[in-house]
This record gives sequence, C-alpha cells and structure tokens, in this order.
Amino acid sequence: MKPTNSPKTYRVKSFGCQMNVYDGERMAEMLGERGIVPAPEGEDADLVVLNTCHIREKAAEKVYSDIGRLTKGKTQDKAPMIAVAGCVAQAEGEEIMARAPAVSMVVGPQAYHRLPEMLDKAVQGERATDTDMPAIAKFAALPERKRTNPASFLTVQEGCDKFCTYCVVPYTRGAEISRPYGDLVTEARKLVDAGAKEITLLGQNVSAWSGEDDKGQAVGLAGLIRDLAKVDGLARIRYTTSHPADMDDDLIAAHGEIDKLMPFLHLPVQAGSDRVLRAMNRSHTAESYLRLLERFRAARPDLALSGDFIVGFPGETDAEFEETLKLVDAVGYAQAFSFKYSPRPGTPAASMEGQVAKDVMDDRLQRLQAALNRDQWAFNRATEGRTCEVLVERKGKHPGQWLGKTPWLQSAWFEGDVGIGDLVQVELVEAGPNSLAGRLRERVAA
Ligand code: 5AD
Ligand code: SF4
Repeated sequence: MKPTNSPKTYRVKSFGCQMNVYDGERMAEMLGERGIVPAPEGEDADLVVLNTCHIREKAAEKVYSDIGRLTKGKTQDKAPMIAVAGCVAQAEGEEIMARAPAVSMVVGPQAYHRLPEMLDKAVQGERATDTDMPAIAKFAALPERKRTNPASFLTVQEGCDKFCTYCVVPYTRGAEISRPYGDLVTEARKLVDAGAKEITLLGQNVSAWSGEDDKGQAVGLAGLIRDLAKVDGLARIRYTTSHPADMDDDLIAAHGEIDKLMPFLHLPVQAGSDRVLRAMNRSHTAESYLRLLERFRAARPDLALSGDFIVGFPGETDAEFEETLKLVDAVGYAQAFSFKYSPRPGTPAASMEGQVAKDVMDDRLQRLQAALNRDQWAFNRATEGRTCEVLVERKGKHPGQWLGKTPWLQSAWFEGDVGIGDLVQVELVEAGPNSLAGRLRERVAA
C-alpha cells in the first residue's frame, strides 16, 4: 500500500452487543486524542472502523459487503482508510487481510488499545493485524473517560468460560477476566463527572465478575454494585448479561436492598426443553431457571425480566419447541431477544446431527416472537397509570418531545421543559407494544 495522508475524520460503525458499543466509544476516544474528529453526518470519513459482531449469521460476508460499499468506484487516494475491529476481526483476521486489500488494519477486541500505533503504520502504507489476547492491558492503555451519554456503559468483565455449544464468544473474546475493582470505581466516577446518570455494567458473563475491594476483601458483582451505589451523582445502575449459574444470594439480595439498582434483569434461558438445554451445555434446567426467577421476584417484586432465546437448535423437535413457549408463558417477560440458531464455525453445535430446516426455524421464531410481543405489551399496559422516574436520553421525533427510559427499561416519550440527562417524574399514560406515552409531572434532582 502507498503511504497516505493522516486521516482527519473518522466514523466508527459498531454492530452487535453493547460491549461492542462500549469498545466503539473507547476507540473513538483514542482517535479523538489524536485530533481526528467524527465525520459530519452524511459526509464520508477519512477513516472507517467496522466494529464487527460474529455471533450470528453471515457476519463475515456483511463485512466484505461493507468494505465493497466503502470503496466502490473510488481510487485508492479517495477511498477511506478501513480498520476491521471486533469479533469477526478476531475470528477471521488473516482471511480479511488476504481477501480485502482495501483494509489497512485488523484489530481484535482485546487489542484495540494499540489502534493508534497501527494507524501510524497504516499512514506509512504498512498493513497491520493485531489479534492478541493480552489479559487486561487494554483498559490501562486507554485514555481517560471525558465525555459520555446520560446512560453509559462500563465494561467490567470480558470473555466467557461457559462454552455453550452454539456460541462463538469463548473463542473470539477469550477466557473470563474481571477488571480490577479500583479501576472500575475510578472509571465510574469519571463517567459521572462527564455527565453519566446511569451506568450499565457490561460483561459477556457479568455475574461472574469478581475482585478485591479497597480493603482487600473478595467481592462479587453485588459488592461492586453496592460500592458503585455510593458514587455521588450516579442515580441508576444496571448490569448485563448474566448466566443463571453465577447468580448468587448476594446479587439476589442486592436487588431488594439497593435503590439505585434498577428493577430489571436480563437473564438468558435460550430454550425451555431440558434435553436441548443439556445439548447446549447450559448448566440449568427450565425448572431451576424458574425457581431462580422466583427468588429474584421475592427480593424485588416489581422486577422486569428479559431473556434471550434460540429456536431451531440442532435436533430441536416440535414438542421441545413447545416447551420454550410454555416457559415464556410461565415467566411473562417484559422484553426479550430471540434468534434463529445459526451454526458458528468451530463450535460443537455446528457439526451436530439434526440441523433444523430454515422454514421450520422461521415458523418457530414467528410463534415465539408473537408470544414475546404479547407479553411485552401486557407488561407495558400493567405499568399504565404509574408515575415513575424517567432518565431523559434524547429528543423525540417531534419538536418538544423527549425520550427516556423508565426504571424497567421501557422507552417513554413525553413533552415538557426538560433537557437530556434530567431525571424527571413521568406519568405513564398510554402503553404501546414498544413504548409508552407519558405526561411530565415534575423534575427531580439527581
Ligand atoms: N445462533 C443463534 N443465536 C445465538 N446466540 C449466541 N450464539 C448464537 C447462535 N450460534 C444468541 C444467544 C445469546 C445471544 C447474545 O445471542 O441467545 O444469549
Ligand atoms: Fe456464549 Fe454461553 Fe458464554 Fe453467553 S454464556 S457468551 S451464550 S458461551
């Protein structure tokens, strides 16, 4: 590749999970430190970072078509510099370098703190790949948090040791690691100083977080949440994503004790059939999952529940799928995510017998989503008439309209004299399937 001018503008396109959103923000911060600014809306950027997701479907193909779109009809000096980051970079970095000459940098999710060095090389015309998985070096090497949204993310844990047989995460994000307690408290304070009112603690297996507090005591996620709740100016705490195997008594109790911990729990179950759960290597049964939820609900009766589901796991029969529907009926989710099984290269399930036909999966997904949508709307209707705190996150579609989140993570929109980042009391007036219309009652101090 020819040496090229240093990029002046950038665009980071993040796909997939919230951890990628967090990583995307951190990469943007690093580019900002270099004096590179976000490309104005609607204008081409000099540097595009494709922060990819590998969890489902044709992830790699999507990357190649994005690269094609970015470079189509452009000579090399007009085309943007391209970096591929995220889990596709980790899984298929070398192939990307070989197949897509337009890509200057390939950087995995545990190595993106080295993006600035790679950029220096790229400007000299040198292509670089970095898919190392150093334990925790990345976070220490990232710049301080200086700007953020009222509802921000904080990655506390990365990687996964659970090895569900369908999932690529243990291979792309590596083994479970927890960021140190002190670093997290510091970063949370910095986020609050920068304007955050709500922090969602992120991890592929966030409930597996463990550390030592400032007195040298071993603490789990509940202990961390308890201490973060003491940060002045922080009004709300959430965490995601959890695994049923790691939910301990302390975390359940925390939901009853800590006001700042929002009444919301995202706890993926994946399927309702015990045989399928075993084949998935999920260490829980439908029954043990339901019992766990009962304990959470006893600690926090207004807890809103969310989950993840996969339909059409290899060998799933009609009767087994019906058990998923039964479980959905038993839980009454406030919201949920559901997916068709997608074979991931290198995972045990990809080579299992009994891969389910596409039309069967389509049909199951449709039925599951109908049930989940029905329950989500019912949950929204059950909150109609309540007045609750809403964190204003952005302007709505119409002038004077604002959009925010209720404690139960529902979107609520309303009109009034407020600003982004305000915590306000809103009466939930009318429930729709995906959001609620509200009426502003009063502002409250953070
Ligand atoms: N196919 C379909 N869905 C998957 N998920 C993870 N791997 C796969 C796969 N191979 C879903 C799970 C997980 C969510 C993040 O993505 O439901 O909880
Ligand atoms: Fe994937 Fe299972 Fe780990 Fe979740 S717990 S990241 S689904 S392997």
